[in-house]
Amino acid sequence: METQTLEQSFLTYFNAKPEIIVRAPGRVNLIGEHTDYNDGFVLPMAIDHAVWMALSPRADLQVRIRSLDLEVDSAFDLNSLAKGEGWLEYIKGVAFQLQKAGYELRGFDAVMTGDVPRGAGLSSSAAVELATARAFAAVSGFAWDAAQMAIISQKAENEWVGVNCGIMDQMASAASKAGYALFLDCRTLEVQHAPLPENISVVILDTSTRRGLVDSAYNERRSQCEEAARWFGVKALRDVSVDDLKKGESGLSEVVMKRARHIVTENARVLEAVQVMKAGNVKRLGELFNASHASLRDDFEVTNEALNQIVECAQEQSSCFGARMTGAGFGGCAVALVQEENAQEFANAVSAAYKQRSGLDASVYVCKASEGASIVKG
Ligand code: GLA
Repeated sequence: METQTLEQSFLTYFNAKPEIIVRAPGRVNLIGEHTDYNDGFVLPMAIDHAVWMALSPRADLQVRIRSLDLEVDSAFDLNSLAKGEGWLEYIKGVAFQLQKAGYELRGFDAVMTGDVPRGAGLSSSAAVELATARAFAAVSGFAWDAAQMAIISQKAENEWVGVNCGIMDQMASAASKAGYALFLDCRTLEVQHAPLPENISVVILDTSTRRGLVDSAYNERRSQCEEAARWFGVKALRDVSVDDLKKGESGLSEVVMKRARHIVTENARVLEAVQVMKAGNVKRLGELFNASHASLRDDFEVTNEALNQIVECAQEQSSCFGARMTGAGFGGCAVALVQEENAQEFANAVSAAYKQRSGLDASVYVCKASEGASIVKG
């Protein structure tokens, strides 16, 4: 993103230069899927696709925002927040939750743009939320606390927008470090920055399929996981070990047992992934990716045909160490670990094979691990 273009747009709309530029990234999850709302472990990374805002503080409580991508102007008053519909709700929701948590906010004028594909499972909404939190922190003069801002943004999404997500996306956008994946304990919110293996590219493969009913399927998985945790007598499935898992067979329905098995084995895979990443064992890391996909397909049942096809196309390439669906599932993207020097060739080969198998066009992004929400200028 050229900050000059953003500054120029601000000048056009507000007849002045912006004082501040903030940026917050989308994310791809490397491994640890559906574990966040089970108090478990995840390993996402912030990507080099982000939401940007150029802004200047106002003396009053008005927030005026021009979305350059949607070509719409919007405004609201921090004293009288009311729910509506559309992209502005993420911003109002964050403002509401910040005020509820006791932060004193100032208004601002802003232009906003982004290149996180929307609806693809790369957390464009978390990027908007964290860019908003970053903007309010900058104009209102309060210190940036990544975990606190992630929690507030998640509450905005849960309570204002009405999407029952976990904490992973907001933490990835808030707390990631360039060049590193974010190893996160979703119970304590403790983070470790895990260096990515050398000479490896993280490649995102967008199936171009989207499913409307993700929310209801997501909520159903959540309640099945809660049911299993209750049966095991624990707070969350995070507290069940791989060894104890078998006990569930005597009391859980087959389907709930499968859900529990995915979560418990996935948590173990994340812990191993962090270890093998540190040791530079990319081969094993790839195997864990493949095992995660099989578990999401067979036990958690959140893949669709397109995801299975694109993952198979990826796994068949000799430059690929492993591939899996990423995000909530039911459509959206897969992620693959690929030998860096072959990344472009891999992208072309998978696109062609996927087109042949599914008839669909994939979008492919060779990604870099980027910095979490930050002030770019000002
Ligand atoms: C969505 C949610 C996250 C997480 C993933 C699945 O991205 O927003 O909180 O639950 O699905 O891992």
